[in-house]
Amino acid sequence: MNISSWQLLQVLFCIMIVSNHSQISTRVLQLLQQEDQVVIDNGIFQLRLTNPGGNIIGIQYNGIENLLELNNPSLNGGFWDLNWSVPGTAGTRGKFDKIEGNSFKVIMETAEQIELSFTRTWNPSLQGEHSPLNIDKRFIVLRDSPGFYSYAIYEHKEDMPEFNLNEARIAFMLSIEKFRYMAMEDDRQRLMPLPKDRVPPRGKELAYPEAVLLVDPVEPEFKGEVDDKYQYSCENKDNKVHGFICLDPPVGFWQITPSNEFRTGGPIKQDLTSHVNPTTLAMFVSTHYGGEDFVIKFGSGEPWKKVFGPVFIYLNTVSDKNDARSLWDDAKERMHREVDSWPYSFPSSEDFPKADQRGNIHGRLVVSDRYISKEYLSAKGAFVGLAPPGDAGSFQRECKGYQFWTNSDDEGYFSIQNVRPGNYNLYAWVSGFIGDYRYEKSIAITAASDVDTGEIVYEPPRSGPTLWEIGIPDRSAAEFYIPEPNPQYINKLFINQPTNRFRQYGLWERYADLYPDQDLVFTVGSSDYRKDWFYAQVTSRKIGDNTYKPTTWKIKFNLDSIDQTGNYTLRIALSSATFSILEVRVNEEEANPPHFSSGLIGSDNTIARHGVHGLYWLFSVEVTARQLLQGENIIYLKQERSFSALHGIMYDYIRLEAPPLSAMHY
Ligand SMILES: *[C@@H]1O[C@H](CO)[C@@H](O)[C@H](O)[C@H]1NC(C)=O
Repeated sequence: MNISSWQLLQVLFCIMIVSNHSQISTRVLQLLQQEDQVVIDNGIFQLRLTNPGGNIIGIQYNGIENLLELNNPSLNGGFWDLNWSVPGTAGTRGKFDKIEGNSFKVIMETAEQIELSFTRTWNPSLQGEHSPLNIDKRFIVLRDSPGFYSYAIYEHKEDMPEFNLNEARIAFMLSIEKFRYMAMEDDRQRLMPLPKDRVPPRGKELAYPEAVLLVDPVEPEFKGEVDDKYQYSCENKDNKVHGFICLDPPVGFWQITPSNEFRTGGPIKQDLTSHVNPTTLAMFVSTHYGGEDFVIKFGSGEPWKKVFGPVFIYLNTVSDKNDARSLWDDAKERMHREVDSWPYSFPSSEDFPKADQRGNIHGRLVVSDRYISKEYLSAKGAFVGLAPPGDAGSFQRECKGYQFWTNSDDEGYFSIQNVRPGNYNLYAWVSGFIGDYRYEKSIAITAASDVDTGEIVYEPPRSGPTLWEIGIPDRSAAEFYIPEPNPQYINKLFINQPTNRFRQYGLWERYADLYPDQDLVFTVGSSDYRKDWFYAQVTSRKIGDNTYKPTTWKIKFNLDSIDQTGNYTLRIALSSATFSILEVRVNEEEANPPHFSSGLIGSDNTIARHGVHGLYWLFSVEVTARQLLQGENIIYLKQERSFSALHGIMYDYIRLEAPPLSAMHY
């Protein structure tokens, strides 16, 4: 824009009456470029970014000069960042990279839309300092829209070295003074402690730095509570809106994510939302609740391109400050509007396909389990999704491509809309049944295609009729016994919230209180898994400074007679594992080697992260008739590793099947 048109706009702006109630908008969308900053103003709010860095340093709204904090010791304002490491780096730690743009471009500037691009182009002389990626950060403001969109195009090209991408996100550091009330679900919202409450001597670090006991918070009402950002984690499928409310003046700041297509690990992968500082995040890539499997590993010259977002930052207000908390309800409504308008029509990048460039798939999934029913069973509410080609269940570790998920209806019918063109496999799992489904044919989605799979049949793993089962096969340990928290480590928010009981800090320590001398024993027929099966098999009973005792759980069951015609099958589904080895022994506690060993599995960290699931594992153990006894039998489940109180496994479901019945019997 040249000077004269800019001046003209300013004049126009001055003579217009800005009103929230007028039918016809009188606001003007304008772009102001300064030497090292750019400002977009649409008459509702003003967005200020560094130029060419592309970091957000100001959001002016509703009389508040800046919704963002700029006086934190390290991280300020709003920014895209990533965490990366050189190949061969073990674990999930890497280098923080705050993606400073080195080039700025106005992509679009009309009366309706302004779209800006801040790119950082890979420079081989910076090898070791920057992640080898070309990154294009985009920001869009629409006329009359109370908020802005952001997306980014990440590209790894043929001339770039190998590297690992551990994390990618947008982070906002909100004004500490203004934003005290956080909301991310109807029953997970509260006044939050202050950042300084987490720092000694006001705060005392617990078993790891993220968990802090508030011993002397500025506001005494928080005294004795635990603060930990992972208490506000959320599954991808539900992670659509969260943020903070300023109570006076009443202003909401919301991060709305209308689609999961660019997230990793499928619909139930969990991630962070908002937390103390006050911080609001849009997570795109992370190792949370999955560990190293979620580190994206790129080979030298491996071509890859991915669009993260767009996500929407929504700002709202209400006239009466007594209604400030209703801003959450308004934010939810706005989230539904954004979801309904996905895929957005307005992003300029050709790398973001519009609705008419995308395709659909539909069909019906049924379950065949002849030991339950001769008829096909409806795959009611099944998770059905397209993800890059791989083995059954591979979607849960997949993090380079796009995924598209839905839930089937009561009859198992499913329809997935607006899929990006590409080659996929169709994956599914059905609550109530073990295992993973993968449709045998690969699926090619093209613009406007509508693939019909017809009726497809999932045959869950099963060799014989159920003798007994423990838990519900739904990839979660939520149905098991979740103890009361230690009264010294409470988050008051979760008291009297049955669905959030497991989010309290330190529950792993309660095992030793409940089982001081002897490990858990579950007796089939008389025990109740809701009361008698601890939700996590933890190491416990500290026996030295850093030494814990492995635990061995027993399942006792009776067999009136032994069927010699074939093998029995023990199905063990885990909902999480962290640096654990599960050993199974049948009627022989000291059997060496064990009858089954999982090997070293998992780095979910779900126990420390107040979760009930991470990645899903299913093991099938053949048990021969000779291993079983007429009368009482005992299965020993030993978690063999004992380095840390935070390591262990969570069961999803356990079942013992009798040998296969001959066809005559069913
Ligand atoms: C039973 O299991 C054992 C041990 O896994 C295996 O060697 C044997 O072949 C199995 N028998 C049948 C009939 O499947």
